[in-house]
Amino acid sequence: MTELTRPTFLEIHLSQLRKNLEAIRARVQPAKVMVVLKANAYGHGVDGVAPYIAPFADFIGVATLEEGIHMRTLVADKPILVMGGTLPEQIPAFPRHNLTLTASSPDLLRAASQVAESTGQTLRVHLKIDTGMERVGVRDTEAEPFLLEAAQTRGVEIEGIYSHYANSDAADLTHARLQLERFNEVLHLYEKHSLPPPTIRHISNSGGILQLPEGNFDMVRAGIMFYGVYPMLETQRTVDVRPAAVWRSRVSYSKVTPPGRPISYGSLWTAERPTRIVTVPCGYADGYFRRSTNQARVLVNGKSYPQVGRICMDQFMVDMGDDAAELGDPVTLLGEGIDAYDLAEWAGTNAYEVLTNISARVPRVFVTE
Ligand SMILES: Cc1ncc(COP(=O)(O)O)c(C=O)c1O
Repeated sequence: MTELTRPTFLEIHLSQLRKNLEAIRARVQPAKVMVVLKANAYGHGVDGVAPYIAPFADFIGVATLEEGIHMRTLVADKPILVMGGTLPEQIPAFPRHNLTLTASSPDLLRAASQVAESTGQTLRVHLKIDTGMERVGVRDTEAEPFLLEAAQTRGVEIEGIYSHYANSDAADLTHARLQLERFNEVLHLYEKHSLPPPTIRHISNSGGILQLPEGNFDMVRAGIMFYGVYPMLETQRTVDVRPAAVWRSRVSYSKVTPPGRPISYGSLWTAERPTRIVTVPCGYADGYFRRSTNQARVLVNGKSYPQVGRICMDQFMVDMGDDAAELGDPVTLLGEGIDAYDLAEWAGTNAYEVLTNISARVPRVFVTE
């Protein structure tokens, strides 16, 4: 640790990520595995995660063009699918950065074709079918003319076709099964019209990988479970994956507070007897949810204590009762028994938001052992 090392940091165990990927691969083979590295690798730090994991992945998924362009600077030789909404004026950047476009409408497909024709470059495309998410994509009921038009469209290589589950992580899989059925019906249209289907058909996210193996097709898209977190508490844990992130900090102030002196903004917590209150240099600007005030718990020196008083932008306080603490003592905010579901419950959100909310101000420290 140097004078410039921030005491609050996120430790990322890259070898655990690799183990998670191999566990996913073992479950879905021979299907390919796309590793979803959007949103700063679900908060884990894309600059460290992407170069390490790319050699073991078949495909990389990102949400936005900007993420795709950045990814291409980190990973030279793996296909990158931009999955989120793209506007027509963004399309010229796709061939320039060797990115794969999601064509979620006939208009986008036509715009892609125009770009291809005018630049003389072929655009690699995955068609997006909406089987029941109602977010982006051509609805399964309207897919037939879309597929036929795509098959005729010049300048584009229709490499893939995909859909996205809304509820594959739930205990009740009725809606997910309906989506899978609709996707299969769309794929049968290729047979009906004696057309070769795209070579990469995919629908499964983490929930699908865990609970609907009949939907693996040619590739799965592994997001949250690649980071060792199951999408929901109720999702069946059919693959053994483990978290790779530990959020650490250190005690930056330690004192005994007398009763009757409320802690922090809004005076939301007051000790009833003299108690040791330590300060942790991490706050909601780091992504430690303000709304988990008086709900959260952390480990100090490996023991669990309650967070007390309003969580501030850059600091929060912890009640250690009669225990002793020194400046610099280790604090764990996530990991070592505190999981993303705990933080999610305290803040009234889900594990996805917990991870992706950890802000850029928190340094990511990558370890490979
Ligand atoms: C299109 C698409 N595919 C795959 C994923 C990965 O999902 P998960 O993190 O649940 O595995 C996402 C993430 O939301 C997504 O938007």
